[in-house]
Order: sequence, then C-alpha cells, then structure tokens
Amino acid sequence: MTKITVRRSGPLNGTVSISGAKNSVLKLMAATTLAQGRYLLHNVPDIIDVDCMSDLLGSMGIGVTRSGPHDLEIDRTSDVVPEAPYELVERMRASIVVLGPLLARFGRARVAMPGGDDFGPRPIDMHLKGLELLGATFEFSHGYIEARADSLTGAHILLEYPSVGATENALMAAVLAKGTTVIDNAAREPEIADLAAFLNRMGAQVLGAGSSTIRIEGVDELFPVEHTVVPDRIEAATFLAALGMTGGELTLHGARAEHMEMFIEKVGEMGMRVSPTSDGLWAMAPSRLQSVDVATLPYPGIATDYKPLFVAMLSVAESVGIVTENVFSGRFRYVDELVRMGADVRTDAHHVIVRGRSQLSGAPVRAPDIRAGAALVLAGLRADGETEVHGAEHIDRGYEDFVGKLTAVGADVHRD
Ligand code: UD1
Repeated sequence: MTKITVRRSGPLNGTVSISGAKNSVLKLMAATTLAQGRYLLHNVPDIIDVDCMSDLLGSMGIGVTRSGPHDLEIDRTSDVVPEAPYELVERMRASIVVLGPLLARFGRARVAMPGGDDFGPRPIDMHLKGLELLGATFEFSHGYIEARADSLTGAHILLEYPSVGATENALMAAVLAKGTTVIDNAAREPEIADLAAFLNRMGAQVLGAGSSTIRIEGVDELFPVEHTVVPDRIEAATFLAALGMTGGELTLHGARAEHMEMFIEKVGEMGMRVSPTSDGLWAMAPSRLQSVDVATLPYPGIATDYKPLFVAMLSVAESVGIVTENVFSGRFRYVDELVRMGADVRTDAHHVIVRGRSQLSGAPVRAPDIRAGAALVLAGLRADGETEVHGAEHIDRGYEDFVGKLTAVGADVHRD
C-alpha cells in the first residue's frame, strides 16, 4: 500500500504534458496478437495497467520491451498460447479484450471470466453475443471461457448498448472474418477510432469507427506496424479538474479539445475558460467555480470516468449540483471518503447531490479505484491541513507520474 499526501494548494500555474491514453494502448496491445512480427508503439504511458497487459502478452509468449520512456516494442512470435489466466484477468478486467483477436487469429481462446469490481457487476454478455454472431461458440468451465470458431463470418451486430469493450472485441474479431461485418450502436469513443486507425494501418478495412455504425470488410492477413497512441482525454480532464479546485492557469500539452467537448462545455458553465492551442489546451479557472448538474452518458456525453472529478469540483463550488450516473450501477464508493473530508454529498439511487463548501478538511482517505483515487487527491488541494490518500497504487494503474505532474504546476503533493 502506498499513499499520497496532499496539502491545500493553488492557484496552479504552468504546463502539464498529457500522456497516451490508457484505454487506447491496452487495446492496441491486445490487437498485436492478430499478426506476427515486430510492432512499435509510441506515446505509451508509463502506468501499471500497461505493465499488466505486457505481463498478459508475455504469458502468451509475446515479447514486450520498453525501448524508450514512452515507446513499446512488441515482438509477436509465431507460437502464441491463446490463453488469459485468472491471475492476470483478475488484476485487470480490460484483459477481456484479447478474446476477440485471439479467436479471430487462432480459432480458439481460453480466457478467465472477469468478475465484478467496485463499479458493481461488469457483465460481458454483449462481448459474447457479438462474437457468437460472427460464428464463435463458448463453453464455461472452472471460471474460464473456452471459445472456439473454426472460421468467423461477417455479420450484422446490433449492440444493445454502445459498450466500449464489446465494440472492441467485435471489431478485432471482424477484421479477419470472411465478408462484411456491420456493428450498429457501436461505442464512439476516440479510443475506438484509434484502435480502428491501428487496425487499418495493419491492413484491415474498417470504416466509420468513431461513429455509431462501423463497417468492416474482412481481410486474410494483417501485418505489424508502428503507431502513436492518442492522448488521454481522461488525464487531461483530471488536470482541468485540478485547476477547477484551486484556480489558476494551465497549459495541457498534447490534450485534444475535440475529444472532450462536453467536458469543456461543462467546466465552461462552471466558470472556467478553456481554449485549444496549436498543440493542446489552455485553461484558466477562477478561485471558486459555480455548481452545475451533470449526467454521465456514453461518448460524446460526459464520460463516467469524469464523474468523481465533477463530484470533487462541486464539493467546493458555489451552490448545489446533481451528478447522475447512467453508465455503471455503483460508482459511488469514494463519496463516503469525500464526506470524511467534510464534503456535503448525499447519494440517492444513481444521483449524487453535492452542496458546495468553501473548503474541505484534510483527512486520511482510501482510493477505491483509479479515477476516484485521483479525485480524492484533487479534493485534498482544497482541504485545510493534510489529506492522506491511501491505496495510491490504484492511481498508478492509470496515471503516469501523477504526483510529479501536479507538483510541477505548484501543488503541494508528495508520495510516501
Ligand atoms: C471502458 C473503459 C472504462 C469506462 C467505460 C465506459 C477501458 C479499459 N475501460 O470500460 O474506463 O468507464 O468504458 O466509458 O477502456 N455492459 C453490459 N454487458 C456487456 C458489456 C458492458 O451490460 O457485455 C454494461 C456495463 O456493465 C456498463 C456499460 O455496459 O454498465 C458500459 O460498459 P462498457 O462500455 O463495456 O465499459 P468497459 O469497456 O468495461
């Protein structure tokens, strides 16, 4: 267990470099199972989840090496064991995205069933249904999915909900299926568009990624490539939220405004000014934000990952805001921790009602997951005394050098 200690800080000032997107790089790494050879990924964040995916690929017989601080070399050999063992899937749920590409490439896969997590139940029924429509069959035994497909054939996949993971699994399977696949009600996240760009570079024929309808013409063979990972919009939003907590002025090098329009609009309503620059974003925040109501939705709506950031900002904003969760059933555990810091926050079913206070009160708290952990650190920026965020290893799963980047713009944060 590691902890991050935070003291009241601000205004923040300076430049932060935004890393590559966690939710993209993990899927690109999974996609390297599709073709033999040597890949080079650039702008890879130095985070624990990348290490987890490297371990998973390593366990399959694929060599992963960091050839530079943000470069990953992946050597996909011919002998791949198409298996994702429990110990690794349990460490990182996103491991389930290897199912589609392994099936497409090897005709079989054995993947541990992911369990639920702090967000509540995390079913994979839509992942399986999409792959079934392409011709896969599944058996479940001893906690594992045993998947088979002598060959995959293009199909019309209508997703019941625009699930990110289900879209990615279907997409990575369909690129090697025979004929045409259409995924309707597909997730539209920028990370899906990045995955499609990567697959197209490998020789796949994918059209429409980033929109609700993705059309894939199956090809016989794919090839290894070099690719630069899209910037992490959630990390960028986290630093904008940090600015919202303290006031000040930040430049986010590498952030992409067009990937976070709704977030920028909302923080604009709260009183921040955000504008795109030639290579990122510039933002200014007053010493206290106005409250707003926020509802999470699939992209391009407000991402569920942004929710703890809004709850933190609202806890010190002027007036009352209601945050409504529409994506995951239970993503509220950090609320009790914020209450321990003096925040006036109540949950009612999938709503959080936040009455802003002028400041919070530093306390020892526990990070339940990546984004909520980051939000607790941000809360500490506007709390008197000292806030100790325990369980900081959750934050390291998704943020590269979170403490270093905050410190560089004037936050009083350190790690023990
Ligand atoms: C991804 C992101 C996560 C983000 C989420 C929603 C990664 C590694 N993680 O997670 O950070 O919060 O998108 O933007 O990219 N569902 C089902 N059945 C399924 C699949 C999903 O019922 O087969 C439900 C989930 O329980 C949830 C909703 O659909 O309520 C959205 O989940 P999904 O979009 O699949 O999220 P992930 O891909 O797991």
